[in-house]
Amino acid sequence: MDTPEHSPLSPLQQRCGRLRDDLRHCIIGQPQLIDCLLVALLADGHLLVEGAPGLAKTTAVKALAARIEADFHRVQFTPDLLPADLTGTDVFRPQAGSFEFERGPLFHNIILADEINRAPAKVQSALLEAMGEQQITVGRSTWKLPDLFMVMATQNPIEQEGTFSLPEAQLDRFLMHVTIGYPDAASELAILKLAREQASRRAHPAPPPQALLSQSDVFAARDAAMAVHMAPALEEYLAQLVLATRDAGRYGAELKRWIAWGGSPRATIALDRCARAHAWLAGRAYVLPEDVHAIVYEVLRHRVLLSYEAQAEGVTPDQVIARLLDLVPLP
Ligand SMILES: Nc1ncnc2c1ncn2[C@@H]1O[C@H](COP(=O)(O)OP(=O)(O)OP(=O)(O)O)[C@@H](O)[C@H]1O
Ligand SMILES: [Mg+2]
Repeated sequence: MDTPEHSPLSPLQQRCGRLRDDLRHCIIGQPQLIDCLLVALLADGHLLVEGAPGLAKTTAVKALAARIEADFHRVQFTPDLLPADLTGTDVFRPQAGSFEFERGPLFHNIILADEINRAPAKVQSALLEAMGEQQITVGRSTWKLPDLFMVMATQNPIEQEGTFSLPEAQLDRFLMHVTIGYPDAASELAILKLAREQASRRAHPAPPPQALLSQSDVFAARDAAMAVHMAPALEEYLAQLVLATRDAGRYGAELKRWIAWGGSPRATIALDRCARAHAWLAGRAYVLPEDVHAIVYEVLRHRVLLSYEAQAEGVTPDQVIARLLDLVPLP
């Protein structure tokens, strides 16, 4: 997401750039996570993040929430969590002699749903429904969630015992699926230095960071990002990429054998929105193929379901996407 020198950045783009730089200072060596957080914020979508414990997932969402005008809430998913623990429930008020709706944690702007696969399906569905509809229904009433509503759910690739896999059919409610790995040696050292600095400052904590974006800034940035131009040939390319996941036979027997289920139109829409957001963050008024390639893995990773054969052979979704990119011709 480097900015070309010639195009003058709008004040909003400059502030988003500052936000990105700021986040890169406190989350070291995970630029893709930060870029995806910003793309999801601009494209009005939700993130599924998969990574081992201790890779700064919580730190990253908290840091984002602290730098925009948004309230943050973390929910730890556990096997005994109930849907009402997320949505809220009608509570009897003896003084008034009636029931009143008590809002649950979903009524926040930025939600960290930690270890989403530890809660049973009905709780996951309550969250996925809220993400899809931006409203929740409790009893006979429907409640609208805040206009700025973003969920980052985490999943741990280790310790699968006692977990509930997310329903594959509903996974595409997540705009992007980000996988994060361990930092390299230089980043590991930088993290250590940062942690020491923070520990030594504990006695005199710095004031909380100033919000770089108000909510209306976020909405304005979304409008601007979604107005970025995409050439018809590139639109065609997005559609062909997604169609190739459904009709993989056209691109060879191997791809057909690997893919059990392809992406829905949500995949095409997600590619479009994410590529525009990426181009806008890079300071461009038009989308380039490189914007599509910067987000295509995150957008398709959870939408292309592998066949049993592919899984048995140890083929990963990323390998399938790489093959798709090889086979589908660029405009
Ligand atoms: N890339 C990084 N940059 C800066 N700090 C980091 C980084 N990775 C880890 N840390 C530090 O390591 C600690 C663990 O981070 P954090 O709690 O955010 O991890 P997590 O991914 O949420 O873990 P869990 O899955 O156990 O909840 C924090 O103190 C954080 O500051
Ligand atoms: Mg955490």
